[in-house]
Amino acid sequence: VINEENYSYELIKEIADYFLERTSIRPVIGIICGSGLNSLADHITDIQAFDYKDIPNFPVSTVEGHVGRMIFGYLEGMPVVAMQGRFHYYEGYPLAKCSMPVRVLKLVGIKYLFATNAAGGLNPKYKVGDIMIVRDHINIMGFAGNSPLQGPNDPRFGPRFPPMTNAYDRHLVRKARKVVREMGIENDVHEGVYTCLGGPNYETVAELKMLRIMGVDAVGMSTVHEVITARHCDLTVFAFSLITNKCATDYDSSEEDANHEEVVMVGKSRQSICGELMCRMIRDLAQD
Ligand code: 6GU
Repeated sequence: VINEENYSYELIKEIADYFLERTSIRPVIGIICGSGLNSLADHITDIQAFDYKDIPNFPVSTVEGHVGRMIFGYLEGMPVVAMQGRFHYYEGYPLAKCSMPVRVLKLVGIKYLFATNAAGGLNPKYKVGDIMIVRDHINIMGFAGNSPLQGPNDPRFGPRFPPMTNAYDRHLVRKARKVVREMGIENDVHEGVYTCLGGPNYETVAELKMLRIMGVDAVGMSTVHEVITARHCDLTVFAFSLITNKCATDYDSSEEDANHEEVVMVGKSRQSICGELMCRMIRDLAQD
């Protein structure tokens, strides 16, 4: 058995019920805060927070810069739930466990998943601190035969063979474009292709060159399996990456090595712009 820690529908329902019994907030949007982007949740009002360690059968995130709590509340009048801290493959969890919280949020009742992450910029046009709206992803770990959906399929979540051609909702991308124009940050925002590698090491120059040739604009260690799990259970997905470093694609490059401190620092320095993008997206969505 590949996903030996099996989170059954019943177990995930139990976790969802834990929240539903403890809060009267019924979120429509789930937000996943990326590295250094915990403050995205600071805009949430009337909060009810649950530490991961208190949630039955919930893993705890072990990464520095990730808090580890689930926050229910309101953003721009919309009921939301935000995860401060996610689970990564490099922490040793199987992909199905990394993305299990997405199914919990589905059973809590969300319709939209807004995922954020910190990523290395491969597209030479990208600058540190830029935002990349995710147009699409390349599931490289899937190429290698790893998927959060491996193992028996429970049709209560979704179909055995879910399509992925509309993974990142076009209407939300269009909305993001409009919001970016309103904010006047067109020069710092791009649309591109994200990929997730297992980590925890960053990539070699040869690997980065290969990724670039494949059409990857930004590389990170998250999000893709969450989005696959979200699309499987028919959530509408929006995602953006904060570019925290530029990737070297030649050996004489002057780019500094990627490091986690820098990733978290750039996140902190750009948290207000990322927060505003998120808030405006939600305000716009609330008006639909
Ligand atoms: Cl350069 N690579 C990966 N895999 N993840 C990152 C990153 C790079 N920069 C931030 N996160």
